[in-house]
Amino acid sequence: MPVATIICGSGDRNGVSRRMCAILESELSRKGFDVFFFEPAYMSIAHCMDCDGCRNGRCVISDDMDPIYDAFSESDVMVFCAPIHFSGPSSVIKTVMDRFQKCWFDRDSGHPSKFIACLCGGSPEPNFQLTEKIYKAFCITAGMEYCGALEISHTDNGVPDLEQIVRAFISDKV
Ligand SMILES: Cc1cc2nc3c(=O)[nH]c(=O)nc-3n(C[C@H](O)[C@H](O)[C@H](O)COP(=O)(O)O)c2cc1C
Repeated sequence: MPVATIICGSGDRNGVSRRMCAILESELSRKGFDVFFFEPAYMSIAHCMDCDGCRNGRCVISDDMDPIYDAFSESDVMVFCAPIHFSGPSSVIKTVMDRFQKCWFDRDSGHPSKFIACLCGGSPEPNFQLTEKIYKAFCITAGMEYCGALEISHTDNGVPDLEQIVRAFISDKV
């Protein structure tokens, strides 16, 4: 059975990212995936301190990243669902991403082959490019293929057709 990990980069449980995660989880399950889902905003995850302790491929910090690392090593697909904050990725998702610095030293351990992003921004023209660039750098380090991003803009005006958009996007990717 294929496995997917979805990470929500927003703390707003009624927000767009959280809604996208629910739709993704439902669609991936329908397609036969086992799905891990994480909300780091409600977990205890320390910042990477660049201590170099992960030179052996294992992070020395023991916290709520542990279940995320386990899911990552078992997954075929990883999905980040996060809002744009000040033209970049939310701090919630960036904190998780930085904790994958261990992959810089160990690219061979189990990891997803595919990475997919879902991004949302409140303005009519959010800067999605910066975040995509950062995600691509993360994919190179973690040995994943960057499979593209769904970009939802103007969320301040609501997104009535979100379900249809997200289902069509993910169906095309997996
Ligand atoms: C701290 C902060 C910074 C934001 N910066 C931007 C931004 O630079 N560009 C933009 O289009 N929207 C920005 N927004 C709006 C969010 O991207 C938008 O409301 C998004 O839909 C929130 O996603 P969520 O509902 O999943 O939390 C910002 C919101 C917050 C809270």
